[in-house]
Amino acid sequence: MAERTGIGLRLPHIAEVVATRPPVGWLEIHPENFLANPHAIELLTDLARDYPISVHTVGISIGSADGIDLAHLRRLRDLVDRLDPILVSGHLAWSSIGGTYLNDLLPLPYTADTLRLVAGQLKRVQDSLGRAYVIENPSTYLSLATSTMSELDFLHALVDATGCGLLCDVSNIYLSGHNMGYDPYRVIDEFPAAAVKELHLGGFTSEDDDATPGATVLIDTHAHQVADPAWALYAHAIGRFGAQPTIVEWDADLPALEVLVGEAAKADAVRTQAREERHAYAR
Ligand SMILES: [Fe+2]
Repeated sequence: MAERTGIGLRLPHIAEVVATRPPVGWLEIHPENFLANPHAIELLTDLARDYPISVHTVGISIGSADGIDLAHLRRLRDLVDRLDPILVSGHLAWSSIGGTYLNDLLPLPYTADTLRLVAGQLKRVQDSLGRAYVIENPSTYLSLATSTMSELDFLHALVDATGCGLLCDVSNIYLSGHNMGYDPYRVIDEFPAAAVKELHLGGFTSEDDDATPGATVLIDTHAHQVADPAWALYAHAIGRFGAQPTIVEWDADLPALEVLVGEAAKADAVRTQAREERHAYAR
């Protein structure tokens, strides 16, 4: 697994990445950006000779009550077979129903029924891909009244039921803690650490909370550099999980590639320091 931090590879950067081979540990793609773009797949196949690739799907909709889109799953499997990625992952969320695809990752009620649904569909996805499908904690803006357990309890139950790996998005935990009024450090401390396969970092946007005058809501826009409190939480996460492979995500208002590569270098530096402090503490 990659020692250095990787970057989310977005189409506007791909030609420059092919030409310059920036010093990042690995590349994570959204397959939905590539499936209808044979030229981009050619470039990606070329990059896969030099970089480990991770496939992070945004269209599987593992929580859809009416099942997984099998045609999409087949297309994903073809790409995965071609790239042989080091990880395949997707969000604990839903984004399609009745053949309609929504451009959002929507929240699930955390119940025993949802657990059965997600566990069954996770098995279907993994069986189809012939490899593990790692689940990412979502960014949270509301809790559903029908939930009978917390997101953290649901993740534990899902890992217990399926043995799946988890992608811990540290920025999501930070912004969800802000939005929902809980301590993100406690979530890191109680996260199912043994299941963690990857960490994410991304920038968020602060907006006025229309429902609560004077309050702000943090939106997971991936449109900025990683904020200082998320870096601090990342250092804490490394202390808990060890030096897990990390991707910096940036999806909107894309910066120059060198800015994104700089964010990955910063993650390397934060991780190295946190690791040294962890070892010093353990001595
Ligand atoms: Fe993420």
